[in-house]
Amino acid sequence: MTEDASKALIERELPDRLTLFERAVISITKLVLAILCRALDLLMLAVRPRLVGPYLSVWLAERRRSPYRWPRSFETVLLLKQTGHTARELTYGEIPLLTAVLLFRRAGLGPGGRLVDLGAGRGRALLAARWLGAQARGVELRREHVEAVRPAMARAGAHLEVADATEADLTGATHVFANWCAFGEESRRRIAERLLACPSGTRLISVLHPAPGGQLRALCRRPGLFTWGFEWVWIHER
Ligand SMILES: C[S@@+](CC[C@H](N)C(=O)[O-])C[C@H]1O[C@@H](n2cnc3c(N)ncnc32)[C@H](O)[C@@H]1O
Repeated sequence: MTEDASKALIERELPDRLTLFERAVISITKLVLAILCRALDLLMLAVRPRLVGPYLSVWLAERRRSPYRWPRSFETVLLLKQTGHTARELTYGEIPLLTAVLLFRRAGLGPGGRLVDLGAGRGRALLAARWLGAQARGVELRREHVEAVRPAMARAGAHLEVADATEADLTGATHVFANWCAFGEESRRRIAERLLACPSGTRLISVLHPAPGGQLRALCRRPGLFTWGFEWVWIHER
């Protein structure tokens, strides 16, 4: 494929929809939130010094190549064609350590627990699970995210792999985290279906959208701070 044809394909499949003003507002809001979230994270890390190194490596990887950049590449078009997902589903955002630790603890995660993060991005939620002494495994569709932080995750004792969350193996999970704000209805439905095959007592912590289908019991709903603002988080039980 020629360079022009490739550009035209990217333009058609991944259009740049934001105006300059919208981008400026988003950038300022992101900066304020980023400073607040980083400050809270660093306070949390003061009591878990062994996680400081991995955390800083993940942060450095973000400085090198931001995960927030809209993925306008030929590889992304291919990935979306192969998996049947939409570009919107790749929208990036993170859960700060403090938010994750508070929510995961509320959901009963601790030593002996095993968290699976579906759509794990750069693994910030996995560090929170490790902060609580639990095992942590994440699956992420975009290889760039996984490769950027794989060594840091290994040093933290967490495992991050490239896989589709809608087909993820949930064997052994006591807790499943789904920061699925941008996931389509079909993806959320398929994930909820997989949760139904888990042993009773397995908990799902989901952001913005409760589990569809009504078969997972909603235990509570809590507000949480994220890198883009406040969001409702649901805790369900299988
Ligand atoms: C909002 S980010 C959440 C990152 C991380 N869980 C956190 O909370 O810090 C959602 C992530 O899910 C990934 N994603 C979207 N659809 C996916 C799928 N079907 N399978 C695996 N990852 C997916 C996106 O690429 C993105 O990195």
